Amino acid sequence: MNRKDDHLKFALDSMSKKNGFDEYMLEYISIPSFGLNDIDTRTKIGEVVFEYPFFINSITGGSEKGDKINKDLEYVSEKTGIFLFPGSYSPFLNKEEVSYPKNQGVNLGIDKPVNLHLEAISKTNAKFLQVHVNLIQEIVMPEGERNFETWESNLKDILSTVKIPVILKETGFGMGRGSFIKAKELGVKILDISGKGGTNFAQIENRRRNKEKKYYEEIGYYTTESLEIAKEFKDDFEIIASGGIRHPLDVVKALALGAKAVGISKTFLEILEVNGRDALIDTINTWKEDIRNIMLLTDSKNIEELRGKIRR
Ligand code: FNR
Repeated sequence: MNRKDDHLKFALDSMSKKNGFDEYMLEYISIPSFGLNDIDTRTKIGEVVFEYPFFINSITGGSEKGDKINKDLEYVSEKTGIFLFPGSYSPFLNKEEVSYPKNQGVNLGIDKPVNLHLEAISKTNAKFLQVHVNLIQEIVMPEGERNFETWESNLKDILSTVKIPVILKETGFGMGRGSFIKAKELGVKILDISGKGGTNFAQIENRRRNKEKKYYEEIGYYTTESLEIAKEFKDDFEIIASGGIRHPLDVVKALALGAKAVGISKTFLEILEVNGRDALIDTINTWKEDIRNIMLLTDSKNIEELRGKIRR
């Protein structure tokens, strides 16, 4: 079985026991000042408007199984109008015909030089570039990367060359103050802090080889911690939250903590794998409705009004 298929398999039976969102409660207001139809759920990342403040976040492609998942997610995205950020473009590099979804996001690692990012963008006509960082995964994998000297200069080149919005994206270990400061120095404007609380790639890699280097699973920041730290940087970045989002209440809590949009990988992958693409469409439609309902419960007419209506 190839590595990407292993990741899919082990991701499905791995879930963090702790989830930072459980430590927070929304500010419930018993007497709303408007009706459900008055609520505006729209948000904006870069100049792109999202009708609802959540999206399908990167899940791998580039194997037969991964390609099938991407096809299904593309279908779900079309039917629901929810944006899709597919998984890494790397298996498609240097290929003529690519089965990667078009006109959505495109995802590639920070280890790749800018010319490959440009290739990925032009082949997919993407609206966003997600540049992912997966340091802990590289370190835990025996076959992982050992040289990281090019990461900063690759990112600088990407930011100065790429014309579409660039998102620097973690992959489930979160970002703390040090990462925010560095991202700011390098000129990043949009961050997906993708924190702990859901998929844990150290755990997935440990399972793949039956090694119990469990201590690597304990490094990083919970999504909620990253969101708290990000408040200090609210004028520097547009913040996207992901990592451990289980249901619409987590989405609304992330927005109340300052995120502009929220990404979901594992929860949607599981529904797709267990119950199929129509079930995922139903789920997403339910989430849309429930996000609106929960906004009403906090007397918030729009995402801006939700900010800060949360307590620990
Ligand atoms: C991922 N993730 C990921 N991220 C990325 O930037 N590029 C990628 O190719 C992949 N591939 C991938 C495969 C699988 C099977 C999973 C489950 C996840 C990471 C993902 O986008 C996200 O950052 C983390 O999974 C945390 O979010 P969840 O899963 O807790 O919602």
